[in-house]
Amino acid sequence: MSSHTDSSDTGSDSETVHDIAHPRFAALYDLLPQRLLLGPHRESLAVELAGRVLEIGAGNGAMFPFVAEEAATDTLEYHAIEPDPHMRERAVATAQETGLAVELRDARAESLPYPDDAFDVVISSMVFCTVQEPEAALSEVFRVLRPGGEFRFLEHVRADGWRETGQNLLTPVWKRAAGGCHLNRDTVGLFVSHDGFAVDEIERLSFGVFPATPFVRGTLHKRRETVGI
Ligand SMILES: C[S@@+](CC[C@H](N)C(=O)[O-])C[C@H]1O[C@@H](n2cnc3c(N)ncnc32)[C@H](O)[C@@H]1O
Repeated sequence: MSSHTDSSDTGSDSETVHDIAHPRFAALYDLLPQRLLLGPHRESLAVELAGRVLEIGAGNGAMFPFVAEEAATDTLEYHAIEPDPHMRERAVATAQETGLAVELRDARAESLPYPDDAFDVVISSMVFCTVQEPEAALSEVFRVLRPGGEFRFLEHVRADGWRETGQNLLTPVWKRAAGGCHLNRDTVGLFVSHDGFAVDEIERLSFGVFPATPFVRGTLHKRRETVGI
C-alpha cells in the first residue's frame, strides 16, 4: 500500500481539494448495510479484472474485497484515487484487511495524475453523483484508458416523473448530508453522449430506495479510432 499527495484542482470549481472532507459522511458510510444490495453489482464490476486498473473515488475501499476475490490477481495492478482524507484513511485500512495491493493517491477524477492510455480498465462506483465536474471527470476517464479499454460503472441516476421532481427538491439538502451527492444527475445521458466511448451494456437495476434510485450498471469501451475526439 502506498499513498501520494499530488492532487490538483481544475480551476473551474470553487471548491479546493482540501474542501472535499466530510468526516461525518465517511463515518456514516462505514455503517451503511450495503453488502446485501450492492454486493452482486460490486462483484460484477470486479469480475476477471486484470492488467492496470484504476478505481476513481474509492471511498472507504468498499470495492477492495470484491476486487481481491474476483480479479485475476496475478496480473492485476490496482490503482485508486480518493480526494477525501477521511475516506482515504479508511481505504488504506480496508486494503490492509483484504490483502489487496493498492496504489492509492489523493486526487480528483477531474484531474487524474496519470499519463494518457495508462489503464486497461477504469471503475466508478457511485462517484459520478458526487464529482464536482462530471464532464471533466468523464474526459479524464477517456484520456487515461487505452484504446479498447473498459469503463465499468455502478451509479445511481436521475429518476422520471414525480420522483425526478422530488429529487430536484431534495438535492440541495441531500448534498450537504451525503458528502456532495446529487440525486438528480443524468449520468447515463452523459456517458452515452461521449463520442469516444461505445456501449457494451447498460442495465437499469431494480433495487434502491427513493430518493437514491434508480441504479444503473454498465460497461463502455474506449473506441480504437479516437483521432480528433
Ligand atoms: C458515495 S461515495 C462512493 C465510494 C465508493 N466508490 C463506493 O463504491 O462505496 C463517493 C466518493 O466519491 C468521492 N469524491 C468526491 N469528489 C470526488 C472527485 N472530484 N473525484 C473523485 N472522487 C470524488 C468522495 O470522497 C466519496 O468517497
